[in-house]
Amino acid sequence: MSLVRNVDSLLADGEVSGRRVFLRADLNVPIRDGVVTDDSRVRASIPTLRRLLDAGARVVLASHLGRPKGHRRPALSLAPVADAVAAQLGRPVAFCGECIGPEAEAAVAALADGEVVLLENLRFHAGETNNEPAFAAQLAALADVYVNDAFGTAHRAHASTTGLAALVSPRAAGLLLESELSHLQVALEPTRPFLCLLGGSKVSDKLGALEALASRADVLAVGGAMAYTFLAAQDHPVGSSLVEPDRFEDAQRVLAAAKRLLLPTDHVIAREIRADAEHRVVATIPEGWMGVDIGPETASRYAEEAAAAKTILWNGPMGVFETDPFAAGTRTVARGVANSPAESIVGGGDSLAAIDKLSLGDRIGHLSTGGGASLEYVQGLELPGVAALET
Ligand code: 3PG
Ligand code: MG
Repeated sequence: MSLVRNVDSLLADGEVSGRRVFLRADLNVPIRDGVVTDDSRVRASIPTLRRLLDAGARVVLASHLGRPKGHRRPALSLAPVADAVAAQLGRPVAFCGECIGPEAEAAVAALADGEVVLLENLRFHAGETNNEPAFAAQLAALADVYVNDAFGTAHRAHASTTGLAALVSPRAAGLLLESELSHLQVALEPTRPFLCLLGGSKVSDKLGALEALASRADVLAVGGAMAYTFLAAQDHPVGSSLVEPDRFEDAQRVLAAAKRLLLPTDHVIAREIRADAEHRVVATIPEGWMGVDIGPETASRYAEEAAAAKTILWNGPMGVFETDPFAAGTRTVARGVANSPAESIVGGGDSLAAIDKLSLGDRIGHLSTGGGASLEYVQGLELPGVAALET
């Protein structure tokens, strides 16, 4: 039984009408030239926001954007996101250029029932990522009720996801957070065979996931630059590919723990990462060349594994997906996951972008709004943002 309350329970108990509800969402979206270029996280945040506003709450909406490390960086202002939220919501969204102090307090005091203000980027203050009690207390001064819907940030123990939760009651999980946790259960109790496809550039970024999933998954297929660290750790030539020599021992441990770990057997190689760079497909990477994508044979093999699986978890690109000539491996894997009858979960910005570009979204079981958060959760780890909601 869950000890975490949800939005429905707040509404049923009449706890939001006319009250200041601090809604922590993950509105960390890509922005170019002041325009949100992918609003999936905005859209995913709307149901909870709408539910609260319809119930007469005065919503104090807050999020981080990027990693400004405690500095006010204009390029990381949430102002354009207020417009994106308003567009999806179909109602005005006020914006406040501060997230704490007198300016924020005044903006919140000006709210009428059923109105919302978006606060400026929480990470403009170092107190957010440091989870400083004084910063959490300043946020708490804006709230009568706390709702966390920021699934994508639930693996961070920051002031707005943990410190604040301890200071405000009632507190509850938003609809997105709840829905993510329930969809991700599939990977915690997978129907077998369970295939994990992990990509991305560094073993160090995903070491926890690699270690945990190596033994949980029936097949762990590795792509992206992290594959070269695995290959190099086994003395395969990798040319000038990106490798982490200080992770060879970790890679060997993962290899030893895995039921079946698949690595690329052919590679797209180039001398530099540029769309017009000379590139070719090889089985062995020569000196002076680096691997930039899994080769076609490897991509087909991974797609065949997807066809045979009953549960699939995919996180991370298979190559330098942003550069078109090096995106084929990621695309083939995306199609393989979409065509498979398996229950599938896809997380991580690049994997989602690949699915989106190919319009395969409606053929994936669950598209997670959290990359790092979904990976931590499916390892069986407790997410600090969820634990903080427990009563
Ligand atoms: C994400 O995009 O992964 C989340 O918003 C968390 O951001 P972070 O990795 O900068 O903490
Ligand atoms: Mg991230």
